[in-house]
Amino acid sequence: MTQFVPLDVSIFDRSFTLDPFQYLKPLYAEKDVLGFSSEGMNFCFRFEDCKDLIGAHTHVAREPATTEETEAEFREFARRYPNRAWHFQYSLTDIKTKVILNRYLADLLDKIVLEDAAPVFGVLGEPGQHNDYLDVVRLLPMRLLLSAWGFEFDAAQLEKLYDASVALVKSFDNYDNEALIAEGEEGIAYNRAYMVEQFETANPGTLLHDFVKESRESGISDDHSIATMLTFMQATPNTISVSTAFMLRNILRFRDEVRPLRETPSLIDDNVILEFLRRDNHVKALSRQIHSSFVLRGREMNPGDSLYIFYPGINLDPTHWKNPLALDFQREFTRDNHNVFGGSRYACIGSRIALKYFAAILPGVLANLPESAQVIEDELEVDGDWIAERVITKLPIFVP
Ligand code: HEM
Repeated sequence: MTQFVPLDVSIFDRSFTLDPFQYLKPLYAEKDVLGFSSEGMNFCFRFEDCKDLIGAHTHVAREPATTEETEAEFREFARRYPNRAWHFQYSLTDIKTKVILNRYLADLLDKIVLEDAAPVFGVLGEPGQHNDYLDVVRLLPMRLLLSAWGFEFDAAQLEKLYDASVALVKSFDNYDNEALIAEGEEGIAYNRAYMVEQFETANPGTLLHDFVKESRESGISDDHSIATMLTFMQATPNTISVSTAFMLRNILRFRDEVRPLRETPSLIDDNVILEFLRRDNHVKALSRQIHSSFVLRGREMNPGDSLYIFYPGINLDPTHWKNPLALDFQREFTRDNHNVFGGSRYACIGSRIALKYFAAILPGVLANLPESAQVIEDELEVDGDWIAERVITKLPIFVP
């Protein structure tokens, strides 16, 4: 039977967060290894195994199977963390709401005003050491996307919405950390109150106004549409913001590969962005609970088992990707040959937004950030505590 073998580093370690491949490389070839274990959790990491796991949606889910015990646990959870429980119950749980949101996301792409991003990246052209650069970059995706919807907010509110969203995502999948869960609850309470107010006061002519109107006219409850919109809003800081940091780092680590994009920005397309995201992005590990038995790499998985999908392992699997550590824009991405955005039941709702955002800002970044700039790796800081995300918190860049 295949096994989960202990990793000789914690998944929270800085070196694992930044470069997991060095630890996983020997494991890929071990046929009797199903995954690795660390900090009391089991992780699958190969492309094929994770593809099977992602596709096994009739046997696994992110939530535990419903039993009397889990229902009692949920009631207790709801008593202590009512906003989290509300979000859990209503966000993305109604197919009609998901369909409408998806349609609006297509229109949202055209409403993003990218000129607003120019001053942020313009700073990168100024000589000197930029230490707190990410503090500015991190707010940009949320600012652009909320504006495109037609949300009203000021600078202080944006900061609060951002911090509240981070607190929530940080508590995802960290099931045993009560302090994080409590902070997540506080965060979602703030964001929920904001969202309720915005739903009531949405200005006619905005996408938000149309979304609220259409949802209500379609018989969708406000709980479903508010919780789902909240998910969208809360996803922006942790996804695009953190992945931007990984991208900036790789622009400066892979100068030769990136040079053609500097010279001919029209080469930047979905394929290029997918390759940046494959090489490095913010997603770390997402949990799955087994609801009914099935076999994964020769091992029977049974109800009650739980494990995590370790996404960087999928993206760097040398049995699937030739020369996986290279940034190679010749790779051809198809619908089925990558899992950068997950798939099946929990496929990313923001994939098109992410591709469009990065394709739109990359020429501006490359035009401003000189090729001779360097990331000061020794001073780079990460927050490794998250299970769901890999987070760079400080990325000092030196511009000669
Ligand atoms: C930066 C690029 C992004 C990457 C690499 C990425 C990756 C992923 C992955 C791998 C999943 C699957 C989760 C699982 O297996 O459990 C996912 C789900 C999700 N993503 Fe993204 N994402 C990105 C950007 C975004 C953006 C911009 C948004 C929204 C603003 C977003 C919202 C979501 C949501 C809400 C889900 C959960 C969907 C569900 O449960 O039905 N993501 N994403």
